[in-house]
Amino acid sequence: MRITVIGTGYLGATHAACMAELGYEVLGLDIDPEKVAALSAGRVPMFEPGLEELLTRHVSSGRLRFTTSWEEAGAFGDVHFVCTNTPQRKGEFAADMSYFDRAVDQLAPVLRPGAVVVGKSTVPVGSAARIAERLTELGPGDVALAWNPEFLREGYAVKDTLHPDRLVIGVAEPGGRAEQTLRQLYAPLTEDGVPLVVTDFATAELVKAAANSFLATKISFINAMAEVCEAAGADVVQLSAALAFDERIGGRFLNAGLGFGGGCLPKDIRAFMARAGELGADQALTFLREVDSINMRRRSRMVELAREQCGGGFLGRRVAVLGAAFKPNTDDVRDSPALNVAAQIQLQGAQVTVYDPKAMDNARKQFPSLTFADSVLEACEGAHVVLHLTEWQEFRELDPEAVGSVVASRQILDGRNILDPAVWRTAGWTYRALGRP
Ligand code: UDX
Repeated sequence: MRITVIGTGYLGATHAACMAELGYEVLGLDIDPEKVAALSAGRVPMFEPGLEELLTRHVSSGRLRFTTSWEEAGAFGDVHFVCTNTPQRKGEFAADMSYFDRAVDQLAPVLRPGAVVVGKSTVPVGSAARIAERLTELGPGDVALAWNPEFLREGYAVKDTLHPDRLVIGVAEPGGRAEQTLRQLYAPLTEDGVPLVVTDFATAELVKAAANSFLATKISFINAMAEVCEAAGADVVQLSAALAFDERIGGRFLNAGLGFGGGCLPKDIRAFMARAGELGADQALTFLREVDSINMRRRSRMVELAREQCGGGFLGRRVAVLGAAFKPNTDDVRDSPALNVAAQIQLQGAQVTVYDPKAMDNARKQFPSLTFADSVLEACEGAHVVLHLTEWQEFRELDPEAVGSVVASRQILDGRNILDPAVWRTAGWTYRALGRP
């Protein structure tokens, strides 16, 4: 079975390398010639642990190649995974399907009869049925569609693709060619015990929207508890630890702090609300509006805490921001809570210096007006307050004495509830965090 992967962004590049790892011959297609050149040379355009090694290995062996040619992709593949991005539309909640739709329109006419097309991107429910019709209209006939949502996390993309919690496959015809092909393709994973759930198109699309909504809700739930803890003088870290012992609740995704960001959770819950509205089911998801608001309020709260520590105003104050990526182990700064807070504080008059172990280039591109430093100590030089906003391992291991020797004032705000308050306080720091007394 030969595989093409259409769109070699985060999802596509990972999927292509992992399918090669499973033993398939893979051709990745992207419309961006620079991306194709980089990947063909074994270079991954983002930081993702383990991916470059996998890519290099399979590019060298010739099992994995990249192209910009639709004709080549159409002629090559038995199975075509479409992995283009579906970002939030400008000024709206709804998802922008134009990249995905354009990919289908280009691919369909060059497909071979008997090909299987597999949608992987996160899309509004109902898209698969629409795309199936489009394939019939523009394709050579006898093309089957399956919907196979992807649940990978950045920073764990390779592991999540090769060892997923489950595989979900949406098909128009249970037991038909699309299902059989994917069962065969994923046999190396299912034989290892990965559960496979076969559904109709709409259910498969909804599993992804529901999973991300649940995760976002869990984070906002604990952050709502953090707000109440702040009002009551209680400690959300202890509260969360105690809740986690209840197996029905569980401790994962229950870390209170600055909340969620990135290219998925924020835009996916908004797109889900927009789609539910179109379907006349908006009432069912009004709670997601609250989930979104709680999440955004954490950022404002962090700005407020920083202002308090700066004596009520930011003018003439230096603020060090540790972290720019939306979470550790990635260089992705899309909708990054850390950069959002840094930019707000700078707008209010502070001199803000940001340091991140991996995301500096992306952060600079997105916020050229912020100042960037090459190390923690350089960022903290002369700072009136230090903000810990992305929990990289490097920051967990910071020595409060070393940092204390360069700052103007020993004040630290822990936006991720990771640092040990006792250690920092013993070293003479004022330590404050979200949701803790
Ligand atoms: C998410 C989903 O986890 C994944 O299944 C889906 O395919 C894509 O979206 P990702 O965006 O890579 O993955 O990040 P994730 O690890 O889920 O974290 C999302 C955000 O939530 C991060 O900003 C993180 O800092 C925040 N978070 C996570 C919390 O604030 N508290 C937590 O307890 C967990």
